[in-house]
Amino acid sequence: MNLQLQGQTVAILGAAQGIGRAIAESFSAEGCRLGLFDRKADPAPPTGTVLFREGDVTRLEEVTSFAADLGPIDHLVYAVGGGSGKFGFPFWNVPPSAWARVLELNLIGAVHAAHAFAPVLTERGEGSVLFVVSVAGQMGSQTDPPYSAAKAGLINFTQCAAKDFAPYNIRVNALSPGMVKTALNEAVWAASQARLPEAERIDYELWAQRKIRATAPLGRWQTPGEMAAVSVFLASPLARNITGQTINVDGGQVMH
Ligand SMILES: NC(=O)c1ccc[n+]([C@@H]2O[C@H](COP(=O)([O-])OP(=O)(O)OC[C@H]3O[C@@H](n4cnc5c(N)ncnc54)[C@H](O)[C@@H]3O)[C@@H](O)[C@H]2O)c1
Repeated sequence: MNLQLQGQTVAILGAAQGIGRAIAESFSAEGCRLGLFDRKADPAPPTGTVLFREGDVTRLEEVTSFAADLGPIDHLVYAVGGGSGKFGFPFWNVPPSAWARVLELNLIGAVHAAHAFAPVLTERGEGSVLFVVSVAGQMGSQTDPPYSAAKAGLINFTQCAAKDFAPYNIRVNALSPGMVKTALNEAVWAASQARLPEAERIDYELWAQRKIRATAPLGRWQTPGEMAAVSVFLASPLARNITGQTINVDGGQVMH
């Protein structure tokens, strides 16, 4: 299928590994130019990468400088995210002091990206923005409350930005994974086991299997490639009437 993205420029934040990296590879396969940003270096970024910038999304000046150096873009993807590293059930297991960093990473960083690229997107007058959120942002998750709250905030900002950008023909959507086998989920597993006595600890695969079976009707992991497939579709003209939506790619965990 021709998604008509050939030659377009995409800025992706959080592109060195996991879901963001898979999204970068899919845009690369569509013949796009890529501007990538991550706090980790990527020694072999995908074909089509015109700029790879090491930086921290929580620092506005670093995101703004990336946007200035990349220049005009057609699409923006924010795939950075991360939890508190603590098991948040009950919520008082996570001290209030742990909230700020999680909100900065998952919400404020996305706001930085939206601000940094708003001038070039509105000038261009066509394009899309995609924020990677989570099913956790659509329920009172008992895993990591600051993470859930940050993702809920980003879902709300998606709708706000979708309305503001609509007159410029810029669509804004949120992609919501359920359980994808990446470093992020391994950290959630590690936090959940750390509080248990040795004899009650279970390995990563068993923990994931139980969690997925209990929550997702399709009963299987999602893959980074499945996230990437929906991301390129949402950027394409095939999705030209889709904006302000949270698209769940989660095996049926959340149903609206
Ligand atoms: N893995 C899942 O099951 C899952 C589920 C729901 C939502 N998500 C969301 O998907 C997105 C991608 O997560 P992932 O699973 O690929 O995780 P990941 O940890 O593999 O990737 C996150 C990327 O963000 C980068 N990053 C982290 N902090 C940064 C910072 N301050 N500045 C710049 N870059 C930074 C990391 O270096 C990494 O490349 C996140 O928004 C996450 O919340 C993941």
